[in-house]
Amino acid sequence: PTSAVSLTVNGRRHTVTVDNRTSLLDLLREHLGLTGSKKGCNAGACGACSVLVDGRRVNSCLTLTVRLDGAEVTTIEGLARGDELHPLQQAFIDQDAFQCGYCTPGQIMSGVACIQEGHTGSEEEIREWMSGNICRCGCYVKIVRAVEQAAGRK
Ligand code: FES
Ligand code: FES
Repeated sequence: PTSAVSLTVNGRRHTVTVDNRTSLLDLLREHLGLTGSKKGCNAGACGACSVLVDGRRVNSCLTLTVRLDGAEVTTIEGLARGDELHPLQQAFIDQDAFQCGYCTPGQIMSGVACIQEGHTGSEEEIREWMSGNICRCGCYVKIVRAVEQAAGRK
């Protein structure tokens, strides 16, 4: 079975007809051409697919599109304002917080939410609230620094 869903992605309204099993991640990557969100595990364990839905971070691989009628989705492609990077994108560059970059879009989306949630009081707190985002390259120290920088502490 299929369903029609209307949702906003990075400020643009889309009405799509999708198979009811279509994940938000597959909608973004395969239907809307937004390939910044990555498919790591496709099972909720790595965070590479993290996006914001109505301002809250979710694993898009575990989120069904049919449940998102009327939702506002923000992906890594929607963070910059024209040529101006989001402060956390800039902080990842300044702090050299990635190697292969595969986890980075998810780390940044999760970090944006972590800052909005106010979970940046200490390095330990950031680590805990970013723990759903795995980095196989082991960039954790610098990722925490980038979140601290964007949160205004560095
Ligand atoms: Fe979604 Fe790993 S791809 S959590
Ligand atoms: Fe390679 Fe994180 S930078 S997985």
